[in-house]
Amino acid sequence: MIPVCTPFLGKNEKKYLLDCVETNWISSSGKYIEKFEDKFSQYCHAKYGVATTSGTTALHLAFAAVGINKGDEVIMPTFNIASTAFAALYCGAKPVFVDSQPDTWNIDPQRIERKITKKTKAIVPVHMYGHPCDMTAIMRIARKHKLIVIEDAAEAHGAKYRGKRVGGIGDIGCFSFYGNKIITCGEGGMVVTSNKRISDRCQNLKNLSFLEEKRFWHKEIGFNYRMTNIQAALGLAQFEKIDQYIKMRRRNALFYNSLLKDIRGIILPVERPDVKNIYWMYSVLVGRNFGMSRDEFMKRLKGMGIESRIFFIPMHQQPVLKKMKIVSKEKFPIAEDIARRGIYLPSGSGLKKKEIEYVCDCIRKIRRKS
Ligand SMILES: Cc1ncc(COP(=O)(O)O)c(C=O)c1O
Repeated sequence: MIPVCTPFLGKNEKKYLLDCVETNWISSSGKYIEKFEDKFSQYCHAKYGVATTSGTTALHLAFAAVGINKGDEVIMPTFNIASTAFAALYCGAKPVFVDSQPDTWNIDPQRIERKITKKTKAIVPVHMYGHPCDMTAIMRIARKHKLIVIEDAAEAHGAKYRGKRVGGIGDIGCFSFYGNKIITCGEGGMVVTSNKRISDRCQNLKNLSFLEEKRFWHKEIGFNYRMTNIQAALGLAQFEKIDQYIKMRRRNALFYNSLLKDIRGIILPVERPDVKNIYWMYSVLVGRNFGMSRDEFMKRLKGMGIESRIFFIPMHQQPVLKKMKIVSKEKFPIAEDIARRGIYLPSGSGLKKKEIEYVCDCIRKIRRKS
């Protein structure tokens, strides 16, 4: 089976991990944590990095650090993983959903302003599958209404919008280092920001909000979202090759595009002229003229030894949010359509040319038989 994604590890991962074990620095202090925070935040053109246990906890930490609270509203795309909405809910805030752009699958800035109320505190653009959001439009709306921008860049390490790396464009950026991300710590996340106050608050909140001047004394509720030195060692070794991985992801995506472009009913991912898409996952839509449903297509791919995955199911359709009355009967036609028709194909950085050729040959055969 050709998997959708596997981690791509090298020699330094082993070396740095061994170093943690041999020196006994295996918990949440140690040289790799600070190094990883510094290097990765610099890469995002942000001054500070705060390493966490996951992308989800990075989002929660960022929301908490800027004071998102009960009664606040946070604007975000409905087409997304649950982490972003859950992070708002952990703070007692309400996620407010917006439909997507049909080509990039990202939050549509033109639909944001009508969702702003007196309770709105922040906008969270999510750079979906590695394609940056339209940040100029989003930042303009945010500044006009005095809203905080927290980028969910969990899938978009190194992606660029008008020459700037995502995560460092808004007030805060949040990343994931889960096993299938461009770089991985196994599990892990990071908040990046150029705002010292926010960074200090994140560092304190992630460590149970210990009061510096009085040990084991707490004036507020904190979390344990501390990344370990072991995770950071892996992350740092991975970071050393981030540009190489991005190159590989992009090369694979462009090769896929060249082989799939003539197949009727396969709608390819886009790269708008002012961005650099890092193609975290090589994602396509199954058109109505493909000759079979998306699910049937996936079944046939599986029969030929090719793993694929469906797209996220929009948040406004989630039973838990319906039960909580977070969502109304509002329709989000673009998100629903994308979610119904989207799949991602094998996409790992280490994917071989031959494997991509095989996948595309199979798709051609499936299409011919439909
Ligand atoms: C857009 C987005 N945000 C947040 C997350 C959460 O990251 P994690 O799985 O590290 O908690 C993910 C994970 O894939 C994601 O895709």
